[in-house]
Amino acid sequence: MKIMKISIIGSGYVGIVTGIGFAELGHNVIFVDVDENKVNLINSRKPPIYEKGLKELMQKNKRRYHATTDYYEAIMNSEITFICVGTPSKEDGSIDLRYVESASKGVGEALANKDDFHVVVVKSTVLPGTTEGVIKPLIEKESGKKAFEDFGLAMNPEFLREGNAVEDFFNPDRIVIGVKDEKTKSILDELYKQFNCPKLFTDIKTAEMIKYVSNAFLATKISFANEIGNICKKLGIDVYKVFEGVGLDHRINPAFFRAGIGFGGSCFPKDVKALIRKAEELGEDPKILKAVIEVNEKQPLKMIELLKKHIPNLRNKRVGILGLAFKPDTDDIRESRAIPIIKALIKEGAKVIAYDPKAMNNFAKMFPQIDYANSAKDVIAKSDAILIVTEWKEFEELDYKGKIVIDGRRIEKAMKDTKIYEGMCW
Ligand code: UDX
Repeated sequence: MKIMKISIIGSGYVGIVTGIGFAELGHNVIFVDVDENKVNLINSRKPPIYEKGLKELMQKNKRRYHATTDYYEAIMNSEITFICVGTPSKEDGSIDLRYVESASKGVGEALANKDDFHVVVVKSTVLPGTTEGVIKPLIEKESGKKAFEDFGLAMNPEFLREGNAVEDFFNPDRIVIGVKDEKTKSILDELYKQFNCPKLFTDIKTAEMIKYVSNAFLATKISFANEIGNICKKLGIDVYKVFEGVGLDHRINPAFFRAGIGFGGSCFPKDVKALIRKAEELGEDPKILKAVIEVNEKQPLKMIELLKKHIPNLRNKRVGILGLAFKPDTDDIRESRAIPIIKALIKEGAKVIAYDPKAMNNFAKMFPQIDYANSAKDVIAKSDAILIVTEWKEFEELDYKGKIVIDGRRIEKAMKDTKIYEGMCW
């Protein structure tokens, strides 16, 4: 194996996991971030985010990486740079390229001083055409160099799931690499040699599209499961049994049919919306994609409907929320279904008390007006009704006896011994 020198621009979920993953494989890694706080945390070997297994790997590989705010230092001391900055949504759902643009400029400025061939790999999720239409011209302008000749440029989408990101890094289903020049292709081929999964080389915009289509399809599976789940609930059919039967068809696959309150997170909502905007820009009307979002926006509010079946007037009622993170094993609350649910409860005049093992600090910044409990038990003790919003493992061990529970995530324990139990789609 050839040990490589890698720099990573942006130390968010994707950047930190990718960089530490490469360090664990034996490479030397430099992280670049504009946030000094993050740089200091990484240099003191502390994870800037919570992710299972990350802390241990940061300790174990502590001599193989460091962080800086200085692009020049990072580019001069590496041969490959991964751009891993965020691509959030603007108000209208279109993609905000601000961070990608400033990373491209930073890389370009530094590259102006470098004589050796350097490969720039885009890992941030960007719409088809962005790497060649936005990133390439910016780097070329700032560096005075030509892409695919003086420096390499590639697009390598990321499929890590939060909460499983470290494991996913080492065991990907596939690696997709969009390239144009042979030199870059062979460098990335070498970098990923240790991985045993299928590797798909495509052109750059195809690689960009594969990421969007993967996420859009998974989001579609979830909204489809929720729509079918809503029908099943009215028919008295358990949708989980239905999808067990459906998923046994090898053409379908059972994953991502967990019906409930819909999807959140940093990827699905924003990527589907960005793809819709792009399609519209091209004169297309993406009906399926729009329906995926519409179902997902309505689904969490069904929890309130079910709750009101049992407590018609929520004013001054204590409603307990179990789970605030957009999914278990993360402290991330971006687009969490807890947000619309708690907003609706506040509007109804309910008194909300919430608990999450990891995400309470993040949530309290957005919702300082609700109460936060020290434990899940505490929420149960203090509430008239309980809404299960995230399927944290510890919620399987609780005693729900005698309570009203509206379950958005299918917690088996709650299904058994509650006074009143309502599953979202079962
Ligand atoms: C996702 C993709 O899985 C990953 O490949 C991509 O790189 C980034 O986006 P992530 O957002 O971390 O990863 O979480 P994921 O496990 O995919 O779950 C997303 C959301 O869908 C969560 O809110 C989860 O609760 C919800 N979900 C997932 C369902 O409601 N039902 C399911 O069956 C699966």
